[in-house]
Amino acid sequence: MNRRHTLTLAAALCAAIAAWPAAAQQQQKLKIGLMLPFTGTFAALGNAIENGFKLYVQESGGKIGGREIEYFRVDDESDPSKATDNIGKLINRDKVDVVVGTVHSGVVMAMAKAARDTNTLLIIPNAGANAVTGAMCAPNIFRTSFSNWQPSYAAGVVAAERGHKKAVSITWKYAAGDEAAAAFKEGFTKGGGTIVKELNLPFPGVEFQALLTEIASLKPDATFAFFAGGGAVKFVKDYAATGLMKSAPLYGPGFLTDGTLEAQGESAQGLLTTLHYADDLPNAKDKTFRLSYAKAYKLQPDVYAAQGYDAAQLLAAGLSGVKGDSSKRAEMIKAMEAAKIDSPRGAFALSKSHNPVQDIYLRKVEGGANKYQKVAVKGLADPATGCKM
Ligand code: PHB
Repeated sequence: MNRRHTLTLAAALCAAIAAWPAAAQQQQKLKIGLMLPFTGTFAALGNAIENGFKLYVQESGGKIGGREIEYFRVDDESDPSKATDNIGKLINRDKVDVVVGTVHSGVVMAMAKAARDTNTLLIIPNAGANAVTGAMCAPNIFRTSFSNWQPSYAAGVVAAERGHKKAVSITWKYAAGDEAAAAFKEGFTKGGGTIVKELNLPFPGVEFQALLTEIASLKPDATFAFFAGGGAVKFVKDYAATGLMKSAPLYGPGFLTDGTLEAQGESAQGLLTTLHYADDLPNAKDKTFRLSYAKAYKLQPDVYAAQGYDAAQLLAAGLSGVKGDSSKRAEMIKAMEAAKIDSPRGAFALSKSHNPVQDIYLRKVEGGANKYQKVAVKGLADPATGCKM
């Protein structure tokens, strides 16, 4: 071999070595950890999120950013006491590239801590805990849903606008309930209303009777409630059965009536709620999303399905920015931060703290649907209190 050949060979070898990590990464499957509730009061929410996520992947030919995918699933049972162990399985045992989860605010707080400690990429497709895009915000933590403040603040604005003066709030006693009630109070008192009593019960309890009797005796002219999933089904039915709907109409973030209407039936008719989604939004993306979701799963989508779909879209935006090479973390994060998500809810971008800046809609239950009424608050960004990033 002459000298020229040796040099060419050496150069080719160097180039191959330099390219190896990216090429090897791209050949390897992208490991996605889905940590969601698949049992308990939020089971339907977890399933809808998984369905939405996988729908986007299917529409993209089974790949994200050119990478094939391997899923790792953990049922978190909406149990904060198991959350650190559960995310540990995905991070340490399965060595996932990204964790997508979860629904429950208490569980997500433990997940955010683990994600920060291990620098694991975390995309939150529901849980609204204000702190994860507030005081606990981090470059590797993103949310495609909402902060607990956003839809409930809008509910307070709407209730005041509609002339209510005296409201009671009722929620589960945990981060999401507390934050939702506080946000409603903020919007409602700004508009001139007063909260006469803040009621709650332990998560995921559904023994509402004593509290409903107390609401009746307080004679408010509106009631604010934060419940979701199975608990929301029971609460709305029980509230309707008290006969209070007329004298004290029920308000709440749309979780009260999303994915629950079939089970709530008559009891939910006419309810006004606020959320970043509705079942008949006037945008083309939502129409195609709803058709393809219904075709794939023989089910109507809801806000949770849309949030799961958008979690996959955000991940895809990040991976496209690095040609599938998820080891280029800083560049990938930049691409995610810059992404404009073509969401079924309407296009949105992320705030500096990685939470959607989005319109909150007023919706009204008619038949089996949460019908769009108007934009309640336009382009609402969470205050992101305490986020330094
Ligand atoms: C939450 O715990 O953050 C939570 C759970 C269910 C919802 C909304 C928020 O529908």
